[in-house]
Amino acid sequence: MMISKKVNSLSDSPTLAMNQKVSELKSEGKDVISLGVGEPDFPTPIYIKYAAIKALNRNMTKYTVSSGTPTLKKAIIDKFRNEYNLNYTPDNILVSAGAKHALWNSIFTLLNEGDEAIIFSPYWVSYPEQIKIANARPVIVATDFDNEFQPKIADIKKAITKKTKLILLNSPNNPTGAVYSEKFIKDVTDLARENDLWIISDEIYEKIIYDGVEHHNIANYYKEKTIIINGVSKAYSMTGWRIGYAAGPKEVILQMAKLQGQVTSCPNSIAQYASQIAISDEQEELNIMYEQFKLRRDYIVDRLNNIDGIECKKPKGTFYVFCDVEELMKKMNFNNTDEVVNFLLDKANVATVSSNAFGYKNFIRMSYANSMENIEEAMDRIERILNEK
Ligand SMILES: Cc1ncc(COP(=O)(O)O)c(C=O)c1O
Repeated sequence: MMISKKVNSLSDSPTLAMNQKVSELKSEGKDVISLGVGEPDFPTPIYIKYAAIKALNRNMTKYTVSSGTPTLKKAIIDKFRNEYNLNYTPDNILVSAGAKHALWNSIFTLLNEGDEAIIFSPYWVSYPEQIKIANARPVIVATDFDNEFQPKIADIKKAITKKTKLILLNSPNNPTGAVYSEKFIKDVTDLARENDLWIISDEIYEKIIYDGVEHHNIANYYKEKTIIINGVSKAYSMTGWRIGYAAGPKEVILQMAKLQGQVTSCPNSIAQYASQIAISDEQEELNIMYEQFKLRRDYIVDRLNNIDGIECKKPKGTFYVFCDVEELMKKMNFNNTDEVVNFLLDKANVATVSSNAFGYKNFIRMSYANSMENIEEAMDRIERILNEK
């Protein structure tokens, strides 16, 4: 066969596939409202765009240090110190081309062939695939609606074997919007320490948390074996700029930097400068985005809970709502959530994502990173079409 077995065995990203489908339908002239996308609908704030223009004018257009510019690393170090009282040095930080790339560097650097990595379902689509590329095995521990999608320590314990190398956490969580409690973070730290496991903690939605709920950074408890993954994509509406970063023990970060140096020389120079300003000079525009997300969350959850057969809880973080459609499926004779999603797309022109994409049954994910006007229209359409069926 022409294509390697490994690449051949990988799945396409279902969320990116849905984005592609939506743009095709739009180019055919269909009035599709996308509640499928995982990116803020706001433009990148002006203070960040100006920073990029300044970087261009100053000819900051060359290769940078492979692991990230010293000034961006300093902004990241300051952020950890100011927000969590965590002390890192430049050797503890690696800047990559997006959080996804930072995650990949850490997974590939830590896992050997045959190792096991524990992830929680519903999971973000790339976790199992990245683990598989590293020739390791994703071990999936399910979380549930009634426990607000907080993982249970007893379930994790059952999944640990001699081959377990790491646990991958994601809080605030995509797709559920769950924010892990302080108790869970402390308990999982104890478990990891007892079993000498690594933690990779994906905190890309850290800035999008509501109702005074706190983000508990596991590095405050288990810094010696934790790699924090974060980036500018979601917090600063910078998905296309492709800057993410990892923070962790020097002996791992330096190896990750070596890997990155051989694969892609460095992250984009202009985007690094813009990200430095994004992080170190936060401005009011960010609050405006945040307040909008909150209003939309309250609205969409209300509307969805008023539809017979759909149930969702108010997510504590992110810009996703994850709703239980099991009753709707029974009532309307859908066999699975892919059918629900296709029905909503074909008949209501509203794009959503089936929980099958996240290794989970009977739920659909909707993103409220869309204008209030579009969300209102999408809810009207869904209500209308379900009443007609
Ligand atoms: C949980 C999670 N981690 C990581 C990423 C990737 O972020 P980036 O765009 O910075 O690569 C995403 C993007 O959707 C995500 O949802």
